[in-house]
Amino acid sequence: MPTPTQIQDTSLDLVAGSPGAHAELLARHRAVLPAWMGLYYEQPIELVAGDGSWVVDGEGNRYLDFWGGILTTLAGHSVPEIVEAVREQAGRMLHTSTLYLIRPMVELAERIAQLSNIPDAKVFLTTSGTEAIDAALLLATAYRRSNQVLAVRNSYHGRSFAAMGITGNRSWSASSLSPFAVHYVQGGYRFRSPFRDLDDAAYTAACVQDLRDVLAMETAGDVACLIAEPVQGVGGFTVPPDGFFGAMKEVLDEQGILFVSDEVQTGWGRTGDHFWGYEAHGIVPDLLTFAKGIGNGLSIGGVVARGEIMDCLATPHISTFGGNPLSTAGALANLEYLLDHDLQANTKAVGDELRRGLVEAAGGLGVVGEIRGKGLMLGIELVGADGRTPNTTAANQALEGTRARGLLVGKGGLYGNCLRIAPPMSLSTADAEHGLRILVDVLHEVDAASGASG
Ligand SMILES: Cc1ncc(COP(=O)(O)O)c(C=O)c1O
Repeated sequence: MPTPTQIQDTSLDLVAGSPGAHAELLARHRAVLPAWMGLYYEQPIELVAGDGSWVVDGEGNRYLDFWGGILTTLAGHSVPEIVEAVREQAGRMLHTSTLYLIRPMVELAERIAQLSNIPDAKVFLTTSGTEAIDAALLLATAYRRSNQVLAVRNSYHGRSFAAMGITGNRSWSASSLSPFAVHYVQGGYRFRSPFRDLDDAAYTAACVQDLRDVLAMETAGDVACLIAEPVQGVGGFTVPPDGFFGAMKEVLDEQGILFVSDEVQTGWGRTGDHFWGYEAHGIVPDLLTFAKGIGNGLSIGGVVARGEIMDCLATPHISTFGGNPLSTAGALANLEYLLDHDLQANTKAVGDELRRGLVEAAGGLGVVGEIRGKGLMLGIELVGADGRTPNTTAANQALEGTRARGLLVGKGGLYGNCLRIAPPMSLSTADAEHGLRILVDVLHEVDAASGASG
């Protein structure tokens, strides 16, 4: 079996591994942690140190990280400016709570409000994406005095009851209990859509008509909001045509229905073309949720809303940890870093090259049903010989194959048959080419094993 490759000298060369460490930790993990907490790989690994786009595991193996802890390591591992900001804050004070003024929270909220493009924006900070989604849904339903919510098929928004209640993906719906009356509309998963053969304009028109039908046939009127991911993350990086949500919003506007853009995966330039995913649709949302990348690994999320919506709650709210000094100081340093280094431009350039290389070298393989995505958010849907049947076995083999060659990628999609590529947004061209070679080799190997190319 090939061993993980080294392409550059980093401080990671100094990290010593301990043989057998993973098996021992896995046994302890299985004994005390929930069985439903999924782990990647037949032999799960612990990542113990990172530098830029590279990580090392507990047994001393190095990997190129094309997954960034689920699109969260945005600037990269161990970025000195971010590490120093966290160290400095931790040395002074870890915690106060939202009962007191928190300077980095105020500064971060000011920056995000301004970057959001939402008029008269206010920001509420949370500790996770799920909590941000809960807050956005609370605000939208309270403001509109309605518990009716529209969500998108194949969506994922988190793991609380409220977030699960708007999840359009059976794999992640552990309960049907929901505080909302939810109706699902068509979205960007064209590969398995009844409208898949239509061109962009006709596809959008068909989905807009479906939205009108859902509103007329399924709801009781006075719907609170539509919540949507501009590019579906867990759903397998599915992308609707540009302008799609703009066309949907025209219908929403007729009835005063709010549009919530879930930017937990698509925010901060991840799609390359834009700073926010919603910008591909020529609209500004009423509310916006974020998390993951803004903390570069620190626990932080939040919701942005127009002031009148944010201030509509009649009771006071606290958050013990929301906007805490440590996460907000680190997020501020991360935000500075990503703006100063124009990581959006890097994401666009490197992501486009990576996509081009993938399409060229693997797009024609029978096992590859579709290569899609934007920026450094690229998905590969793997299929059987008929070009359509979800091929989860091939996705699992590809996950193992890439790890064995020293590359970490993610998995997702409705049937767990999509590979997901989402490296730190600081990924260099050399590292992108290195990862591409591994991916292409593995896809050819999996294709041969599956017999999908006949
Ligand atoms: C689009 C989207 N929204 C919300 C969430 C929930 O975020 P968290 O896992 O931080 O609770 C996720 C998590 O993957 C997500 O992808």
